[in-house]
Amino acid sequence: MNISIIGSGYVGLVTGTCFAELGNKVICVDNDAAKIKRLKKASVPIYEPGLEDLIKKNIKSKRLFFSADLKSAVRKSEVIFITVGTPSKENGEADLTGIENVARSIAHNMNGYKLIVEKSTVPVETGAWVKRTIDMHNHKKYKFDVASSPEFLREGQAISDFMHPDRIVIGVESGKAKDILLNLYKPLKSAILVTDIKSAELIKHASNSFLAAKISFINAVSNLCEKVGADVAKVAEGMGLDRRINGMFLDAGIGYGGSCFPKDIDAFISISEKLGYDFSLLKEVKNINNAQKINFIEKIQDSLWIVKDKTIAILGLAFKPNTDDIRSAASIDIIRMLQDQGAKIKVYDPCAVNNAKAVLKKVKFCKDSYDAAKGSDCLVVVTEWSEFKELDLVRIKKLLKHPLIIDGRNIYEPIQMKKLGFKYVSIGRAKVV
Ligand code: UGA
Repeated sequence: MNISIIGSGYVGLVTGTCFAELGNKVICVDNDAAKIKRLKKASVPIYEPGLEDLIKKNIKSKRLFFSADLKSAVRKSEVIFITVGTPSKENGEADLTGIENVARSIAHNMNGYKLIVEKSTVPVETGAWVKRTIDMHNHKKYKFDVASSPEFLREGQAISDFMHPDRIVIGVESGKAKDILLNLYKPLKSAILVTDIKSAELIKHASNSFLAAKISFINAVSNLCEKVGADVAKVAEGMGLDRRINGMFLDAGIGYGGSCFPKDIDAFISISEKLGYDFSLLKEVKNINNAQKINFIEKIQDSLWIVKDKTIAILGLAFKPNTDDIRSAASIDIIRMLQDQGAKIKVYDPCAVNNAKAVLKKVKFCKDSYDAAKGSDCLVVVTEWSEFKELDLVRIKKLLKHPLIIDGRNIYEPIQMKKLGFKYVSIGRAKVV
């Protein structure tokens, strides 16, 4: 199939490359000409394991192309995916300017039947707006369909999520759109749910919100665990053995971050309000998430007493492991809050340093965890990268001024830490002194 992907950001690049890998001819479009120039040489602007190799392979097989020319991409394609960003406005509402612009440009350049599929995360009823917009600008009245096929990729494992999805959701209004999309997704051998467009749009927001609610729920439970000296990991394990609950997304920590959950929860609250429903449950999910960061800062304060002029070594900047993404990462808020109190910050992250340099000021970026620990008053774990789990803690202890670790991701075992002589503070578990 000839496909265009409009918007070569995270979702667009992964989706386009994987569709090419499945044997389609794909043009990834972006209005950032410099980005397209880089992509043509298979230089990938984001870190996603396996993506660069797959891009190289599909450029070579002449199935994957990059272009800044939306007009010609639209004319050459029967199926057009919209994968532009939908950032948050100040009030939390999703900014759909990019979607509207693309819908208008597609309409202006149609030369026959087109299936336009929204893949960006959008509020319910965006599909109807896209349809109206195309109708208004499609002066030659070419036939077209609009569909919704939300993406469920996780950063860091996006290719495997695309190739082996739990489910594919297709929201359509016509038999033709349904057949085209079923055919396109056929090689993936996954459960496919065919529904109407509005339900498909809601599935995406509801899924991300539900996962975020799971995280806030276990974080709330972690606070109770601390009060009574129970172990949140065991509580989560016990809950997760019930198949109706399942153990995934029950890791307590410093709250969720990233480019999706915070933005999508805001947008879901906002669209609910617009439609006349107060989604108060989600407001509380958000409150608990924000409070979890504050609680973590308090743990650091309780351990150090005076934060001013203390040197704090931060391990991890990315919002989760296996990505260089720092968008809405807890690390940034935590570092700024500590700096506000006069702390000196040293940080190390295996991947996200370049992105962090653009937003963090007066921070010492270190070459590894040991370099960060050297001469610091404490070590603070913010992202659960595998390499942090395998640190030589005896060496770390010698390098730190005091044997104090405050772990926001529960990557070490309290008993082991006690044996090693650390004062160890973690989430939802008894403090080890
Ligand atoms: C999320 C969803 O998991 C994807 O299904 C969805 O497609 C994507 O958003 C999107 O809408 O594009 P992602 O943001 O890449 O994916 O990351 P997750 O793995 O879901 O993690 C999100 C945040 O939750 C991270 O900060 C992570 O540290 C935190 N988290 C996750 C926890 O604190 N505890 C957990 O048990 C799981």
